[in-house]
Amino acid sequence: MPQSKALLSEYDVIIIGAGASGLMCALTAGERGRRVLILDHANKIGKKIIISGGGRCNFTNMYTEPGNYLSNNSHFCKSALSRYTQWDFQALVDKYQIAWHEKTLGQLFCDDRSHQIVDLLVSECRRAGVTIRTKAMVEQITSQVEGDSVYRLKTTLGEIASRSLVVATGGLSFPTMGATGFGYEVAEQFGHELVPVRPALVPFTMPKKWLEHFSVLSGVSAEVIATCSGQSFRENLLITHRGVSGPAILQVSSYWNENDMVKINWFPGVSVYDWLKGAQERRPKAETHTILSEHMTKRLAQVLCQHGKLRLVTEGGHKTINRYSNVELEQLAEQLEEWELAPNGTEGYKKAEVTLGGVSTDKVSSKTFESRLQSGLFFIGEVLDVTGHLGGFNFQWAWASGYCAGQYA
Ligand code: FDA
Repeated sequence: MPQSKALLSEYDVIIIGAGASGLMCALTAGERGRRVLILDHANKIGKKIIISGGGRCNFTNMYTEPGNYLSNNSHFCKSALSRYTQWDFQALVDKYQIAWHEKTLGQLFCDDRSHQIVDLLVSECRRAGVTIRTKAMVEQITSQVEGDSVYRLKTTLGEIASRSLVVATGGLSFPTMGATGFGYEVAEQFGHELVPVRPALVPFTMPKKWLEHFSVLSGVSAEVIATCSGQSFRENLLITHRGVSGPAILQVSSYWNENDMVKINWFPGVSVYDWLKGAQERRPKAETHTILSEHMTKRLAQVLCQHGKLRLVTEGGHKTINRYSNVELEQLAEQLEEWELAPNGTEGYKKAEVTLGGVSTDKVSSKTFESRLQSGLFFIGEVLDVTGHLGGFNFQWAWASGYCAGQYA
């Protein structure tokens, strides 16, 4: 039997997207006594939460602050982050007795499975009387200003109406997990501008010539300081069979534009010149690659010395350390502290954790998340032009923006 297209139901709030921000918004609005429907086109809710953090969900960061976010308007995120903090979400996790630990740099992960976070959100939604429907496609949205029901949605479930409509459809990364650009289309339909989008927190691809040299190191990682466009991150770099990845690289990728150079300091926290100078006294006859391998794996030291400018300076790694003049030692130190990496691209949305850009915050209230152009329309989470650093900041944004919108929707 064909599905009836008659008016299915009326709600106070319809939320499109049952991901992190949508579920948080739903349970908050539901708690206020609003009749809430949350729709998702995917067969399951919270798919990105489930795969996040390697299956353990890095659900927040203890050091969350506005400086951890990129946006054309750096002030926009401040209000929500201060009204729903990392401690608020941690308290919710504790309420459900979900065991967690700090992995590194304030990043809080579940001890067990990220599914526990989805279960928590579903349980809170149930308590708040929220209706959740999956495999639901929205085909058309119309709005009328008079009367009780402002928004009418034509969906695969039939026609639905509501007073508030919340767009929580996320960004474009990981299309296999249900990501679409639908939220951007809705924004444009109602006159909102979009900040150009691109993949972020994404591995870099490297040119063929570079790979010929470095792919033997695929799987090798080292702690570095990676710098791009004036932003530096001290974390691990991982060499892959297509280029470079690891947290340090993912972080700088958010600041990278085509043709930008990324600088790598292979010796974070070490005064390289002083250390090399000391090595001249300690091990004068040792070859350069042997000295370097005091601070990195032998293979990495060898390959670094056989590539680019370092190959000339170190004679392929074989120059003994006592043969360097002070000026040459300075050059060597500089090469190791400001090693140049020239990516030819990124792995794209398929491998990006997030999407940079999105719905411009210009015409959205940072207090209520309601559109300034269209009353009753809200945007939350990653669909907005607010993108966090790696480390639990993106979920914290989803929780905070979802909670704040849920107070008003
Ligand atoms: P989210 O993507 O969570 O939800 C959007 C929902 O909308 C989805 O359920 C989708 O199916 C639905 N939808 C899309 N189009 C629709 C349409 N047309 N109709 C109906 N529904 C539609 N962050 C972090 O802080 N810590 C971490 O550990 C990780 N790890 C991580 C790993 C991987 C592999 C990825 C890809 C991403 C992360 N992230 C992360 C980022 C984090 O997952 C992301 O920022 C949040 O999930 C964003 O929450 P939203 O609610 O905005 O979108």
